[in-house]
Amino acid sequence: KITGKCPFAGNSVGGAAGSEPTTDHWWPNRLKVELLHQDPREANPHDEGFNYAEAFNQLDLAEVKKDIKALLTSSQDWWPSDYGNYGPQMIRMAWHSAGTYRIADGRGGAGEAMQRFAPINSWWDNGNVDKSRRLLWPIKQKYGAALSWADLIVLTGNCSLEIMGFPTFGFAGGRIDAWEPDNLTYWGPESWYGKKIEDAPHGPFEGHPDQMVNRDLRWTGEAGDERYDLEAPLAASNSNLIYVDPEGSAKKGVPEDSAADIRITFGRMAMNDEETVALIAGGHAFGKSHGMTPPDQIGFAPEGAPMEAQGLGWHNPRGKGNAEDTMTNGIEGSWTQNPIQWDNSYLENLFNFEWEQTRSPAGALQWTPVDKNAPRTPDAHLEGVDHPLMMMTSDIALKVDPSYRRICEKFLNDFDYFTDAFSRAWYKLTHRDMGPKARYLGPEVPQEDLIWQDPIPAVDFELVDAGDIADLKRRILDSDVSVSQLAAVAWGSASTFRTSDKRGGADGARIRLAPMKDWPVNNPSDLSKVLGVLEGIKRDFDGAQSGNKKVSLADLIVLGGCAAVEKAASDAGVNVEVPFTPGRNDATAEQTDEQTFRWLEPVSDGFRNFHRDDITYNVSPEEIFMDRAALLGLSAPEWTALVGGLRVLDVNAKGAYQQHGVFTDRPGVLTNDFFLNLTSPDFEWKKVDSEGLEFTLNDRQSGETKFKATRCDLIFGANSQLRQLAEFYAQKGGHEKLVRDFAAAWNKVMMHDRFDV
Ligand code: HEM
Repeated sequence: KITGKCPFAGNSVGGAAGSEPTTDHWWPNRLKVELLHQDPREANPHDEGFNYAEAFNQLDLAEVKKDIKALLTSSQDWWPSDYGNYGPQMIRMAWHSAGTYRIADGRGGAGEAMQRFAPINSWWDNGNVDKSRRLLWPIKQKYGAALSWADLIVLTGNCSLEIMGFPTFGFAGGRIDAWEPDNLTYWGPESWYGKKIEDAPHGPFEGHPDQMVNRDLRWTGEAGDERYDLEAPLAASNSNLIYVDPEGSAKKGVPEDSAADIRITFGRMAMNDEETVALIAGGHAFGKSHGMTPPDQIGFAPEGAPMEAQGLGWHNPRGKGNAEDTMTNGIEGSWTQNPIQWDNSYLENLFNFEWEQTRSPAGALQWTPVDKNAPRTPDAHLEGVDHPLMMMTSDIALKVDPSYRRICEKFLNDFDYFTDAFSRAWYKLTHRDMGPKARYLGPEVPQEDLIWQDPIPAVDFELVDAGDIADLKRRILDSDVSVSQLAAVAWGSASTFRTSDKRGGADGARIRLAPMKDWPVNNPSDLSKVLGVLEGIKRDFDGAQSGNKKVSLADLIVLGGCAAVEKAASDAGVNVEVPFTPGRNDATAEQTDEQTFRWLEPVSDGFRNFHRDDITYNVSPEEIFMDRAALLGLSAPEWTALVGGLRVLDVNAKGAYQQHGVFTDRPGVLTNDFFLNLTSPDFEWKKVDSEGLEFTLNDRQSGETKFKATRCDLIFGANSQLRQLAEFYAQKGGHEKLVRDFAAAWNKVMMHDRFDV
């Protein structure tokens, strides 16, 4: 304790930067607009011009892999390897890195190595994965900036599989590490000991398995019911887990219920039944589960660990604390007789024996063969000691579910087929969130195009030049489609893009294919009219060329938007050029995975004042709106400028809120009227419905209703941060600035998926 009295510093220091309480404590429901500015440039120590792709391409990948493989078979005393091979624990590390991916919003996944940061680094399911990463530090240190943690984690998973006899399908580098925890992603409700997180005895991440008890908050119905479902965008059955509880739904040990959980959660990872079985049966051919000591004395997870632990968590004070005394999940044992060899014994064991429930030394529910003569598995550390085989409730699920069972039987009878299925599923798992193949780096990228990569044919024609572009713009504006319709179609085409998994976007012109062409938010009848006109222009243009020059519909859709914005700006008295970069091509229906594209449909889209009312929302429309802005990678000013522009361009979806937010007497003209009217004290704003979803702007003098609004409009006047931006665009000079900012943000959205330029 520091004593004595300083006349200048006072007698005590009570808080410092970030000490609670802060604004979020006093107003927990405020829209946290600053979350749009995650992982900023300032958080990143690389030089401004650092180009990861260039650095990675300098690597000798074969050399890196040789180093990794040597490390995998060199046991370290501070964390000895099971069976003399770190492979299995590294496969689990890579799987957990990728397995957070969820298709509903494309967040999670291996892409930025978020496993290094809270909360993911401290999830119970990531127990001792901190050791796997720390073991890899010498490799990361050796290759430095040329090898991101995100790439290293996946590559090590591949090396591990390879040294144990498994042929991997390929590897692509190109993942760029984040430098900050992600404070934006919604990981779902959770309570601890049946109480709120704040009430847990040692804070939220002490990591005792019995804490993971309350799964009700995120599920509807009971396993087996028709209504059984997990709220979007979640993909894990409980917080702290990558997918499902190994002890079964709510730790009840019922394999049938576990199968229902697995189907939903792996489905949210975009895996079908065959891929799901391949992954689980393939993964559990290796390694073991750890539950040798009761969990009651396990220390804090990494984020809450004491200073001297230096980021390593889950200290186990019993026995050696590692090796044969390791406590990770709590379940104990291995699935196979040779856990460091790729073979079919996981499925053979699952099907050759009857299994009965038992408990691990740590008290976890697991299964063991009824037949006492069943083969045994060697101890991972002690010479001459062996143990009965083990299955988890989630493994038995593969045997009892009829569809999973059929797939298992196929894999059992055809090991080569199983091997191929697992290698493809592993490749998909670990590369799913990387986006188009244009982002893939390195000598091990497979030639084959895969449907989940949303392939687009390569451009094999000459692109339009500046003269063609001017000519095409003229033709588009001379046609009988309006500026609003053109802008709406271009926006609808490009704004499906998500910075999370880099899916969607204008390239491919998938807006003309199912399911996008039928989404209500895209105004299907207007859309088909605009597409018809653009197709006509394309036909005429292509037909008039003598050489190999063509324009794709994907480019023409974007160009239509550029022309519309320029016209709308000039009608408002401001000249602006919206950049246009040709080079997109048109994908076919066969290249489009209709089922997985369904997840990209906005059920609530503030950009077009669209809100489906047949869905239960636990969040407000403006929160979903900001979530979409975040997925589009927009800053708060970009978001604000786009909304102000889109409203006066009059691109709202048809339906209940079509006129809402169009605060202008000149729709289709790029004015700053949205902000002028929003910030004008001449109006008073009245709630229309009891829920507060709809509002009117009434003239204070006459009482007359001038405009209608939704929450997604009024939030720009109500939220203190957004209001500053709304005032900025309503003040002197605001109109010109808005037009420039709108054009720049518009171009950013149009260009999001152009990884080729
Ligand atoms: C280990 C659960 C799917 C690969 C484990 C452990 C649990 C578990 C509880 C033991 C952790 C420990 O105590 O050390 C599950 C569940 C799954 C699932 C519930 C889904 C239903 C997968 C998948 C893969 C995989 C898809 C990879 C493709 C592994 C490996 C180990 C392991 C290699 C051994 C780790 C080691 O030896 O240290 N799994 N897993 N698992 N899992 Fe899974």
